[in-house]
Amino acid sequence: MNFLGAHILSINQFDTQDVERLFSIADQMQPYAHRELKTRVLEGAILGSLFFEPSTRTRISFGCAFNLLGGQVRETTEIKSSALAKGESLYDTARVISGYSDIIVMRHTMDGSVEEFSKASRVPVINAGDGSAEHPSQALLDLYTIKKELNIEGEINGLNIALVGDLKYGRTVHSLCKLLKLYKNISFTLISPSELKMPKDIVDDLLKSGHEVNETENMETGLGDKHLVYLTRIQEERFNNQEEANTYRGRFRLNQSIYTAHCEPDTVIMHPLPRDSRAEANELDNDLNQHPSLAIFRQADNGVLIRMALFALTLGIEKDIHLTSNKVNWYTDRRF
Ligand code: NCD
Repeated sequence: MNFLGAHILSINQFDTQDVERLFSIADQMQPYAHRELKTRVLEGAILGSLFFEPSTRTRISFGCAFNLLGGQVRETTEIKSSALAKGESLYDTARVISGYSDIIVMRHTMDGSVEEFSKASRVPVINAGDGSAEHPSQALLDLYTIKKELNIEGEINGLNIALVGDLKYGRTVHSLCKLLKLYKNISFTLISPSELKMPKDIVDDLLKSGHEVNETENMETGLGDKHLVYLTRIQEERFNNQEEANTYRGRFRLNQSIYTAHCEPDTVIMHPLPRDSRAEANELDNDLNQHPSLAIFRQADNGVLIRMALFALTLGIEKDIHLTSNKVNWYTDRRF
């Protein structure tokens, strides 16, 4: 794909070469994200950050990524604090904000809303999550993390992976499946309540691309023999009422004793976060916090690298980053 000036709306825009290109730029961002070097390459540029749905990691990491490249962030959070609450259309918001910004990152409750917005935008738009549809930058950082955690150089082949939880409404697992589809011989075990199964079109596409898919409600057997287990939260905000969401909370949990009994000793544990740590849910227990295969915080850290790389490529400054770079002059002894 041609990244320059592109809207990043769906993972379907990417092929494996695009992914490798992005990942090699992400690798180059390490010294900046780790606060060894600083760069001013985006000095003067403005990111419009529009999050019309709750977000911690995605919003802050997109903002940090832009700041780390030297740019500024202007943001609005929640529909109620923006003019959308006064009945403004996505079209008008897009026309206006794209006049103030060089690039826009947007999250919204409705499937397809970011694409609709992008059609009226005068600058590139990155989808930071539209309803239960897609979350492309998350899938990219997830795949980047998978490769780092499993020491995979080049193309992925023969991965054995379990996706657990709310596979119906979880946009992260939708985008991740669409991305993994591009590779070879992946065995997917999809563990969810039968009412929250992965959408059929996504499963059909995986099968058509030659992958193996097993769907089950049995977490214990589903966890066996996996390189990786990817847990998700019940997406309570997508249900008609909380009672319905409550019936699924806590159904599938991973903790130290379940891990020891059913996983390989080094099965990598991932979760897009936030994990729901309330007692009735707790899909990923704190008793695994010190486990060396718990990748969740390295996964969240990788979000900054991937988002810096997306900005660099869409704004065409990927070759200039190091031209303006200097050592940082503050205390940076980070304990990883
Ligand atoms: C996810 C999301 O918003 O889709 N969070 C994230 O961006 N890391 C997952 C979730 O909210 O459960």
